[in-house]
Amino acid sequence: MSLEYTLGEFLVFGLFTFGGIGFCVWKRRQERLSRFIDLTIDGIVLSSNGVIVEVNQQAVTTFGSFSKYQLLGKNVLDFVAPISKELVKEKLAMSRVDRYECTLLKSNGTPFPALIRGTNISHKKHLRLSAIVDLSELKKTTQALEALNQTLAQKVEEHIAKNRQQEMVLFQQARHAQMGEMISMIAHQWRQPLNVLSLMCQNIVFKYKMNMLDDTLMNTFKQDSMKQIIQMSKTIDDFRNFFKPDRTKKVFDVKKQLLYVSEMLKDVYATYHIELIIKVDDGLKLESFPNEFNQCIINLLNNAKDVLVNTSIKNEKFIVISAFKNEEGKVVIIVEDSGDGIDESVLPHLFEPYFSTKESGVGTGLGLYMTKMIIEAHMQGSIRISNAQSGARFEIIL
Ligand SMILES: Nc1ncnc2c1ncn2[C@@H]1O[C@H](COP(=O)(O)OP(=O)(O)OP(=O)(O)O)[C@@H](O)[C@H]1O
Ligand SMILES: [Mg+2]
Repeated sequence: MSLEYTLGEFLVFGLFTFGGIGFCVWKRRQERLSRFIDLTIDGIVLSSNGVIVEVNQQAVTTFGSFSKYQLLGKNVLDFVAPISKELVKEKLAMSRVDRYECTLLKSNGTPFPALIRGTNISHKKHLRLSAIVDLSELKKTTQALEALNQTLAQKVEEHIAKNRQQEMVLFQQARHAQMGEMISMIAHQWRQPLNVLSLMCQNIVFKYKMNMLDDTLMNTFKQDSMKQIIQMSKTIDDFRNFFKPDRTKKVFDVKKQLLYVSEMLKDVYATYHIELIIKVDDGLKLESFPNEFNQCIINLLNNAKDVLVNTSIKNEKFIVISAFKNEEGKVVIIVEDSGDGIDESVLPHLFEPYFSTKESGVGTGLGLYMTKMIIEAHMQGSIRISNAQSGARFEIIL
């Protein structure tokens, strides 16, 4: 067979061979490009003069279509909701737009929020590539999150308000307990003058019956009974001032204040043979709320007294209050008693509201809770409990 070809035959052969190879390469590139744009998360729409000429699989999904042929040949504006038409038209007129939000329409006409980015890729055919992201899920999640945040904030606020209310109730109860304390102290202080007054009354009636009443006796009776009554009235004022809450800070002498407290309580303590020892440096000053300071000290002293009254120790019963300035310049107050000390198992719970080891009706369990609240929240100090050699030890740093 002859191997000689005519030039025409050679050219036809070359055209087919290289043309075929070229077509194959172009086709493979096209497929690779298709696969590439199908992989993107964005819906890709290629339009020419505003008419859709190609879309990727994600665009088919975004527009809720069965196949891309539902979209091809349609005008891009057919998929834009009336509310966004003007905006989209405006953006389409720009050769390149950065992402913007608008409302698009699914194939069945359902509107959905979308994010679009677009760019012209060929001026000749007015080719434009647009990337579209359906924001429905994102918006739903954001709305749900916002709603959740709102309810969360509301719940937190409700919780804070509830806590505040509870705190107020506790404070109120603690105040009532202190008022009860005040009344029992007044009652204690009054017992003596009441006894005296009762004796004086019996005496004056006796003298009257015996016809022994004269001006001098009546005057003495008046003066003596007035003395007792004035003393009783002063007791009320003293205790009232003692428990009155302070509004402003005052500089006060720690020793004087503690002596004032012990003066108030000494009769009660003497009844139970409890010695109150005060060891405070002279001239130790504190800028704080003196009446609230009193309340804290009295709570600690009453607890110590309750223990000492019931304590089995036959030896001395005493409470020592010492105060000094530490190296940091803070005032330290230590209240120590010679009681049985505190059981290690209850130690972590003593500052909890309503925690009491006393019989119901005797202790409310609010004394130490309130003391801690006053010291920490109002006086910006701290309080610590421990067991010392003698008994319980309370250390306040202010
Ligand atoms: N000095 C102390 N020695 C031993 N235990 C103490 C001492 N002080 C407090 N406690 C214990 O701490 C508990 C709580 O004290 P808190 O003052 O808060 O309440 P309460 O004294 O029981 O009741 P309230 O003071 O309200 O009348 C007491 O019940 C007691 O068990
Ligand atoms: Mg108490």
